Amino acid sequence: MKARAIAHPNIALIKYWGKRNISLNLPAVSSLSLTLDQFQTETLVEWGSERDRLFLNGSEIQSNEAKRAFQFLDRLDPDRPPCRIVSHNNFPTAAGLASSSSAFAALALAASKASGQSHTETELSILARQGSGSAARSLSGGWVVWNRGIQPNGQDSYGRCIAPPDHWDVRMLVAVVSAGRKSVGSTQGMIRSKETSPFYQNWVDTSEKDVQEAIQAVQKKDLHQLGALMEHSTIKMHAVMMTSRPTIRYWKPQSLAIIEAVEALRNRGIPCYQTMDAGPNVKILCSAEHAEEIASELSRITHPIHILQAGSDAKIIH
Ligand code: PMV
Repeated sequence: MKARAIAHPNIALIKYWGKRNISLNLPAVSSLSLTLDQFQTETLVEWGSERDRLFLNGSEIQSNEAKRAFQFLDRLDPDRPPCRIVSHNNFPTAAGLASSSSAFAALALAASKASGQSHTETELSILARQGSGSAARSLSGGWVVWNRGIQPNGQDSYGRCIAPPDHWDVRMLVAVVSAGRKSVGSTQGMIRSKETSPFYQNWVDTSEKDVQEAIQAVQKKDLHQLGALMEHSTIKMHAVMMTSRPTIRYWKPQSLAIIEAVEALRNRGIPCYQTMDAGPNVKILCSAEHAEEIASELSRITHPIHILQAGSDAKIIH
């Protein structure tokens, strides 16, 4: 059987960094994200093929990436037949956006359907989480909370929509500083931070409050409150990264230049707030009305600047 699904990437506003269980990708902290439209992964799964094969953006992949994808299918059914996966990202790989969130969300949905199983959105989020933590947040559109959960088997750790995409007309700008591969992968980085950063425990202890306050800010559509919390969560996470040993520093000089430009715009009365993940690119949250002006200002520092809106649920397509 075959099935095809699409999913959108998401950007965390309150960040996930640290795992309480590595093989199940159970997070040490809850997080809050916005699913983005325009950019998407489309994935076809053929359940029952001559042998396991993965094609990504038109080329066959045989590296660890393929191993990871097929091990992921084993979680769905340890006795599965050989499968073929054909996946495309419509966004340029050069966008530097975390594509693993949309990749594993689309793969979970397509594989579930192709295998003839039927899963709820919650079950699919739990499954996608095991491929890549942030994928737990990409099954749902709009504003999504991923609860850390407390159960050892992770059945209470999944993404849940708290507000649909049309709840609030914001924009997320992606300022691409570098499209290169990240210097330290997120799993490796999270393990290192947990073991060595003197600030790790404080990060874990304070992030639940950030999530709760950010949920209220989303509900009230309070851009200032949400933006301030987002920047605080970002800086705290990067402080934990930087104080890991050896240090993990994803920032580049241009990242800092954008952060300063965002601050300067804000001082001129244009509300905008920055966030960064495990890489040098900067994402900027703002209202729809200011997006173009902010993008043109930031394009003096780097380009491209993508302007994205809130996106919808992952879905099966025919
Ligand atoms: O699940 P991963 O490996 O995509 O880790 C994501 C980690 C961050 O992007 C840094 C933060 C987040 O919450 O997305």
